[in-house]
Amino acid sequence: MAARKRAVSSGDPSSESTQRKQPQEHPDPPIAPPKWGLLLKLSIFSIPYFYLIFYHYSIDPQLRRSILINAGMSLAGFFVTVRMIPVASRYVLKRNLFGYDINKKGTSQGNVKVPESLGIVVGIVFLVVGILFQYFNFTADSNWLVEYNAALACVCFMTLLGFVDDVLDVPWRVKLLLPSIAALPLLMAYAGHTTIVIPKPLVQHIGIEILDLGWIYKLYMGLLAVFCTNSINIHAGLNGLEVRQTVVISSAILMHNIMQIGASKDPEYKQAHAFSIYLVQPLLATSLALFSFNWYPSSVFVGDTYTYFAGMTMAVAGILGHFSETLLIFFLPQVLNFLLSLPQLSGYIPCPRHRLPRFDPQTGLLTGTNDGTLVNFFLRTLGRKSEKALCVYLLVFQALACCFCFFLRYLLAGWYK
Ligand code: UD1
Ligand code: MG
Repeated sequence: MAARKRAVSSGDPSSESTQRKQPQEHPDPPIAPPKWGLLLKLSIFSIPYFYLIFYHYSIDPQLRRSILINAGMSLAGFFVTVRMIPVASRYVLKRNLFGYDINKKGTSQGNVKVPESLGIVVGIVFLVVGILFQYFNFTADSNWLVEYNAALACVCFMTLLGFVDDVLDVPWRVKLLLPSIAALPLLMAYAGHTTIVIPKPLVQHIGIEILDLGWIYKLYMGLLAVFCTNSINIHAGLNGLEVRQTVVISSAILMHNIMQIGASKDPEYKQAHAFSIYLVQPLLATSLALFSFNWYPSSVFVGDTYTYFAGMTMAVAGILGHFSETLLIFFLPQVLNFLLSLPQLSGYIPCPRHRLPRFDPQTGLLTGTNDGTLVNFFLRTLGRKSEKALCVYLLVFQALACCFCFFLRYLLAGWYK
């Protein structure tokens, strides 16, 4: 949760009841402007993507047109998000939805009220882009539109529940279940196949090439949504980590989709990957807008609204695109973080409210604690680091996991499936 409980539990005199009744004598200063230089550097990474779309593959012109219209709308979504975040920040601060930067405790920055739950802006802009884009999607298959809308309903439901969590501070065990409720629209509307292709090395042992999982497939889809959302939410707590991991994974998903479209001749297969692109391009664009405010030093926090929203969008993109195994390899750092977290999540070892490293205000460095997270594991292995340096290490690791996934796919192509 954001401000309310933190303000009370930290014994801060500006707790909710006090703040609500008294008009603020000193209005909060406006947040720092977006970090445009950083965005400019990141935009270089879009070159290989557009090279693949325009030159490397001969993509069907109608499909290419839909992808480019979606990209254009995502760009518009990016600018709207950049414009709206400072506005929304003023409103959330007015309603006491803020957090203190724990990794700056003991310094002057640690006393600044950082607006919380700005993922709500990203979620709303994403949904508007997603809804409007249907007008430009030229597929004749209406079943796809049903599933596309069901996917948007999941993302909308998840954003709502994430915001509820930020405002009400839902207990941990309940929190874990929220995504399974939000995934219901897609699970109920899903009319696609429920079969899996058996890996070639196993075919001779099992005797079949394709296995129909029926309702178990839907259960798997639900579990994937629960995993993607929660795993992003618990790999967090450093400035920019939540958004940047999403940016890295979404970029990898886009590359994967375009490579699959370019290499395939099957229209249904291409359409599945195109739908995944239509969901992930706006996710990436709006996330980059949030990132420009959330990178170190954060002038806004993303809240559980964003972590749940981003996790759910990637999960539904993986489900509709039928590449959940690949998605799980992109999520390798999150899988490792989840495994390290299991003893605390299961209650075997006590789990504190925050499992963050220890900050030393004298040196400005973080030291790893014994809490089971990848963040602490990196610090224990690599030694003390500044928050920014540690975040960069974790993001390079995320990018390496994505590269490893592409390499593995290349290595196993034709042999595995
Ligand atoms: C999850 C983690 C928790 C971690 C927290 C950080 C588990 C079981 N829970 O809890 O260990 O501490 O995320 O997001 O693993 N914050 C910062 N710097 C940042 C981002 C967040 O100090 O860069 C702090 C702020 O006080 C912010 C708060 O974390 O208000 C947000 O925490 P919240 O998202 O509510 O925590 P959980 O998702 O419940
Ligand atoms: Mg969180």
